[in-house]
Amino acid sequence: MTGAADWSGRVGDVWAAEYARTERAFSATAAALDAAIATVAPVSGHAVDLGCGVGGTTLALAAARPMLQVTGIDLSSSLIEVARWRVGEAAAAPAFVVGDVLQVLPTLAPLDLLVSRHGLMFFADPVAGFSVLRAATALDAPLVFSCFAARSENEWVTVPERTLGLSPRVEGAYAPGPFALGDATFTRALLHQSGWTDVQLRLHRVDYVVGSGIDPVEDALAFYRRIGPLASLLSTASPAERQSLETRLRDVLASRIRDGAVTFSAAIWIITARAGKEVA
Ligand SMILES: C[S@@+](CC[C@H](N)C(=O)[O-])C[C@H]1O[C@@H](n2cnc3c(N)ncnc32)[C@H](O)[C@@H]1O
Repeated sequence: MTGAADWSGRVGDVWAAEYARTERAFSATAAALDAAIATVAPVSGHAVDLGCGVGGTTLALAAARPMLQVTGIDLSSSLIEVARWRVGEAAAAPAFVVGDVLQVLPTLAPLDLLVSRHGLMFFADPVAGFSVLRAATALDAPLVFSCFAARSENEWVTVPERTLGLSPRVEGAYAPGPFALGDATFTRALLHQSGWTDVQLRLHRVDYVVGSGIDPVEDALAFYRRIGPLASLLSTASPAERQSLETRLRDVLASRIRDGAVTFSAAIWIITARAGKEVA
């Protein structure tokens, strides 16, 4: 389980330090999401990227819609620092705010578009969270976001776990974390309950590149040591255990090299909805 407190502290710091690796892992997700956003994004008005991290989606939207005001919000000051630094490279200049979207969003209402790349799976109370999003949005304005589909469909996590002999985890009741919105039935009902309408979930299977460069296997190991569900297992293992786990991981990572990169697939939802009449 990863919640708000983790992101504003240690997890956010790690993602900031590893931002080149996470941007690479999410590049195929970004292409699919940015295309979906482009089909509904207004030409002008105000859009917010929720849980923007280092701002990949924020910057893409600002570049695609130069007349649209774009703001990225994230809990982690380390991630926002990187996002602001990246603006230097961009022609269009979005604003970045450090804070909890549930507190900042009401101060920016009414908004014309909400987007997020994997930033909405961490609300302690998801109906309350998505209701705040709805209340801050103009009637009929679109929400477009991505999240992981079911854990069992995401081989970038299941294959390494199986290699390490970990029993497959079955997702149960909602708990904040990467797979919290993986169940389509749950997520559709959640959005309806929170005042969203025209809800559509589209499944995409995208590449998830975990290692590349001169030594893609060591690069992939460096990724798994710091990012995702295996990171705590690897970092808390004794030196001997860790060596044995990593030896097994190296073999499976090497078997997944394609065009010089260690590549798994990820199953993601791209979800679109519109702000409904009833504010929950
Ligand atoms: C998986 S990361 C994705 C980051 C970024 N959107 C990307 O695609 O690289 C999730 C992000 O959501 C942010 N986040 C989670 N809950 C949040 C909240 N309540 N308010 C603001 N940011 C939040 C985290 O700090 C983290 O940066």
